[in-house]
Amino acid sequence: MNTSSQELSVIILSAGQGKRMFSATPKVLHKLAGKPILQHVIDTVLNLPAKKVYIVYGYEGQLLRKKIISDNLSLNWILQSNQYGTGHAIQKVMEKYEGKNNDQILILYGDIPLISIKTLSKLLYLHTGFNISLLTAKIDSPYGYGRVLRKDGLIIKIIEQDDASENHKNIQEINTGIMVVNKKKLHTWINQIHNNNSKKEFYLTDIVSIAHHNGHIINSMQSKNTFEIFGINNRLQLMQLERFYQKRQAKKLLLNGLSLADHRRFDLRGTLKHGKDIFIDVNVILEGNIIIGDRVKIGNGCKLKNVTINNDVTIYPYSIIENTHLDSNSIIGPFAHIHSNSRISKNVHIGNFVEVKNTIFGKNSKAGHLSYLGDANIGKKVNIGAGAITCNFDGKNKNKTIINNDAFIGANSELIAPIIIGSGATVGAGTTVTKNINNGEKIISRVRQFSILKKHNS
Ligand code: UD1
Ligand code: MG
Repeated sequence: MNTSSQELSVIILSAGQGKRMFSATPKVLHKLAGKPILQHVIDTVLNLPAKKVYIVYGYEGQLLRKKIISDNLSLNWILQSNQYGTGHAIQKVMEKYEGKNNDQILILYGDIPLISIKTLSKLLYLHTGFNISLLTAKIDSPYGYGRVLRKDGLIIKIIEQDDASENHKNIQEINTGIMVVNKKKLHTWINQIHNNNSKKEFYLTDIVSIAHHNGHIINSMQSKNTFEIFGINNRLQLMQLERFYQKRQAKKLLLNGLSLADHRRFDLRGTLKHGKDIFIDVNVILEGNIIIGDRVKIGNGCKLKNVTINNDVTIYPYSIIENTHLDSNSIIGPFAHIHSNSRISKNVHIGNFVEVKNTIFGKNSKAGHLSYLGDANIGKKVNIGAGAITCNFDGKNKNKTIINNDAFIGANSELIAPIIIGSGATVGAGTTVTKNINNGEKIISRVRQFSILKKHNS
């Protein structure tokens, strides 16, 4: 496409409710690799020199607008309250279209998430000198797709599945739905389509035969990658595309030096930056933005979301870590839960069944077993015994616990916040701490042990 004289607009058709998903959520908001299907398309469009982007939606417009992020690109939302077909959707856009007659319009589908920038750029490039260019593909099972009918090698018509004869059904070249059309021509042709077909819908694809009858050559390019043009209509297809996406992503990471025990049991739903000599065991899920340093080991069944991990950290199996920074040489888990802006310093050990919430853990501190530490500032070389908990919530407010350097919190202690434990202080096992403790102070508050003698009736 010659962008110096012609400008590009994009239309993304997304009004279909997605009945086959059997869901209250609009189809295009279902997630692929943690991101709405439609967001994948928009993120690709952000890389195109598009002047305007129109999204045709059918319902839940507010929800769509809330969930879809478009950074610098302003989206024009076009309501198509009744879905009378893809052609009808384009008619709705043309009623509101602002732009010049020689604009080129790229039509995409909100339910074809993996279309690549490479393919679209090539299609736009090859469109130069044509009024209409289709992205087609040759596939083994063309059922459901519009078939591309050619005569003497030239495209003359698209025949939809429901209108196809037995002969047409054998055609393996399909219409991906993605096309580029000159604005003026699209405006003219789209108003010539009608709905006398088996679905009683206005088919966008009918503009192909109209263009042909008007003496235009229908340009085309074939996509080699079938996943790129794969549309999602049901949850089986969504799962299939998810597996394809994850496999492709995992292979890239493996070739980049990340060790995965099994690429089929690894899911990245976001972005991952990583160092060297990392090992990730099976069934690990990474979400959001993840940064991992060198020589980190992540055990099986862990889930990490928005986490940064420095060098030489080991995370044992089944730990859940969210919105947390882990400094180097720490050992976490198994079965640890660390979340809500926690910061774990160097050489910390957080062991099994320990929950850490919105807490800063100082260097060389330890909480080896069965603790809850919430809204706390824990100093350096602090030892938290098994079963010790911060009582941070008084029913209304979240209160702070401060435990200074070198403090020792005995097993099964309750620290009732707000509270300050002085440095080097010792809390005896089983103590309920209700008052601040001075530096070096040793306290205990448990009931003395005594024997109960049985009375015998003799
Ligand atoms: C369409 C094409 C078919 C192509 C296939 C590729 C038509 C008539 N047929 O068929 O040639 O092989 O896609 O996947 O275009 N939509 C609206 N408004 C509507 C109807 C649909 O916005 O009134 C949107 C849907 O949300 C979807 C897209 O358009 O994103 C395609 O609609 P869909 O019903 O899936 O079309 P297909 O029958 O798959
Ligand atoms: Mg479809």
